[in-house]
Amino acid sequence: MDTILCLCKGIKKYEIIDTIIKGAHTVDDIKEKLGVTSGLCGGERCKTSIEYFIEQYKDYKPSQEEYVYNRMDTLVCFCKQIKKSDIIDAINDGYDTVDKLKEKLNVTNGVCIGERCRENIEEIIKIHLKK
Ligand code: FES
Ligand code: FES
Repeated sequence: MDTILCLCKGIKKYEIIDTIIKGAHTVDDIKEKLGVTSGLCGGERCKTSIEYFIEQYKDYKPSQEEYVYNRMDTLVCFCKQIKKSDIIDAINDGYDTVDKLKEKLNVTNGVCIGERCRENIEEIIKIHLKK
């Protein structure tokens, strides 16, 4: 799964990055939108990381593909109900081609035989390995 960055509120890293890319450039802006730093620890455990990601992404203009990639933990293979985060975890474990991912997660192996997901999986591999 994608990393949870604000543990108290269960807010994931990709949600925070998405919010920064959309124009929230201070911790308070992101707090207003997502509730980060408003948990029990008062931001003690997450504020520094959020500030780091603001610096990293505030001037970032993603391509359309990267934008989609960063956006959310979407379902990628509908037939087999496999999410983007499952695919990224598997890529990190070395399953870095569609065939290897098929072996590991069964993606592209549903009734549409990859018609709806193969291209997106290829895109995710390409973008993730560039990082
Ligand atoms: S971890 Fe974010 S408020 Fe506690
Ligand atoms: S959507 Fe992946 S096999 Fe159909």
